[in-house]
Amino acid sequence: MKIKRNSTCGSLEIKDTGKEVILSGWVENYRDHGGIIFIDLYDRWGMTQVVFDPEVSGKDAHATAGILRSQFVVSVRGEVRKRPEGSENTKLATGYIEVYAKEIEVLNESKTPPFDVYHASAVNEESRLKYRYLDLKNSKLQKSMIFRSSLTNTIRNYFFENDFIDVETPILTKSTPEGARDYLVPSRVNPGKFFALPQSPQLFKQMLMTAGYDKYIQIARCFRDEDLRADRQPEFTQVDLEMSFVDREDVIKIVEGLFKEIYSKHLGRQLDLPLKRITYDEAMLKYGCDAPDLRFGLEITELSDIFEKTEFAVFKGALAQKGKIRGINLKGLSSQLTRKDLDYMTEFVKPLRGKGVAWIRMNDDGPQSPIIKFFTDDEAEALYKRMNAETGDVLIFLADREKIVCSCLSELRKFFAKKCSLYSEGDMSLIWVIDFPMFGPGEKGKPEVLHHPFTSPKPEDISKLDSDIYAVKTNAYDIVLNGHEVGGGSIRMHSSSLQRKILEIIGIGNEDAERQFGYLLEALDYGTPPHGGLALGLDRMVMLLLGLDSIRDVIAFPKTQKATCLLTNAPSSVADEQLEELSIETVLPENE
Ligand code: AMO
Ligand code: AMP
Repeated sequence: MKIKRNSTCGSLEIKDTGKEVILSGWVENYRDHGGIIFIDLYDRWGMTQVVFDPEVSGKDAHATAGILRSQFVVSVRGEVRKRPEGSENTKLATGYIEVYAKEIEVLNESKTPPFDVYHASAVNEESRLKYRYLDLKNSKLQKSMIFRSSLTNTIRNYFFENDFIDVETPILTKSTPEGARDYLVPSRVNPGKFFALPQSPQLFKQMLMTAGYDKYIQIARCFRDEDLRADRQPEFTQVDLEMSFVDREDVIKIVEGLFKEIYSKHLGRQLDLPLKRITYDEAMLKYGCDAPDLRFGLEITELSDIFEKTEFAVFKGALAQKGKIRGINLKGLSSQLTRKDLDYMTEFVKPLRGKGVAWIRMNDDGPQSPIIKFFTDDEAEALYKRMNAETGDVLIFLADREKIVCSCLSELRKFFAKKCSLYSEGDMSLIWVIDFPMFGPGEKGKPEVLHHPFTSPKPEDISKLDSDIYAVKTNAYDIVLNGHEVGGGSIRMHSSSLQRKILEIIGIGNEDAERQFGYLLEALDYGTPPHGGLALGLDRMVMLLLGLDSIRDVIAFPKTQKATCLLTNAPSSVADEQLEELSIETVLPENE
């Protein structure tokens, strides 16, 4: 390189007028205005307009400028000048100046990019992921990446200042159960044996507590083969922490302190502590899910008792099946909702296995509804009273199995809040959900754990493990931001006998327990202290703090919804010799 930069494309301002500078970067927006050539020169820090006027730049530089195209890489030496009046770009600090080039060196050329790299948000995502190295120049993505880098730094510093130590745990390991499938890695030197990539560092961090590494933190990669959604990736990052000799309040306090610092440093806001807490039972009842969005109201109302004797077939049928009838008062939203919107609810709940949604519109001249004719006066009266129904409201109802009622009303609640703008862009709701049940009925009626199986039951509920397991509550806590679980954790079991008992309840008998987690059970027998911790989903946090909708917009090289990488074409087939070396044969499903 002949000329080496001494400034960036984002730093020059009016006060630099007259300086000679050297900039390096990428060309965009080549414009030839009657022999005077203008380019926008970009780098990580910003954009500076460069002018090639034959009278200033000399013939050579001007001729070279003539061959520049989008994404050519150049160094330019020139003089900073104030832009002529009326041609300023007031949105940019560099928008008041331009650099009159005297010398230019082309460092590399570029093929024509498949999209406008700096303003590509409208381009289809497939193309953006295939040419991710170009898409990453987009200012929106760049902002995410820089925010993420700075947030990570705040997090590390916070924990370091609070006396935590950062310890790395293995990536090639044994299955760590967090409820998803494992990604497996075959071992060449141990034919037929596999490592599993960690779903989280859970068991290692617990053993670090045995080792006395109290106050552990790690920014850890986790891998889960599970169905993907807008806020899930197969490979993601956790801020993982664990502490010894603590109770729930200690963990909550350290995490709240972190969020306070993040809010103040990165959002310029004050976060009032302690955060609101609601119990799991209350969350399910009032919001239909365990990660409620409290930026708006629209609480769910229990109505089953009102309709105990109903003759309305839909409600009667649901109650006969031990189901529930619950509703939401869409307060004051009648004028914003058309008949079509109300009919659409039935379509909306279909994928959630809902069979229909009933509604009553509270009009000036009385209630209007296809179902009201089925209600007795007493039922209608009790309903209006319970739901605080007033003119201008729309009441909606679901009658079904409790699980379906909850999930449909939870989604309808979010749907109407968004549709009717019940919250503003910058609103934030950060809360704790606590007191989770230890078990829920899984498929085939077998009990399943709601968190992972290392979460401790509340000490006062341990006796119920033999009598009424579904009444056992845990010392688990989730932190929820705008309706997304951004973190979860618990106080763990440090007694191997209690740990074995829990594993047994979920169908992992002594032999299986030994095979799968023998090392942990043994560690518990070597002086493991009482301990607890939590893990935050870093990607999700960045997404929500920036108000974005997709987790892919906060990860430099993300996977698609189908868990593939369009840039590298991973996963891909491998050579037969490689498989042979690994003692692996593949049998593909017939339709592939
Ligand atoms: P959990 O499974 O709740 O807990 O994970 C912690 C947090 O990680 C984030 N998260 C994800 N983010 C993106 N893509 C995914 N596929 C994904 N899965 C989870 C969520 C979640 O709250 N070992 C325990 C923590 C503990 O008990 O200390 C654990 O992993 O934001
Ligand atoms: P139907 O008897 O199926 O015509 O339904 C009568 C009304 O009840 C319609 O407005 C349906 O949308 C509504 N409905 C149907 N199934 C349910 C249900 N499970 N919960 C609440 N409302 C329902």
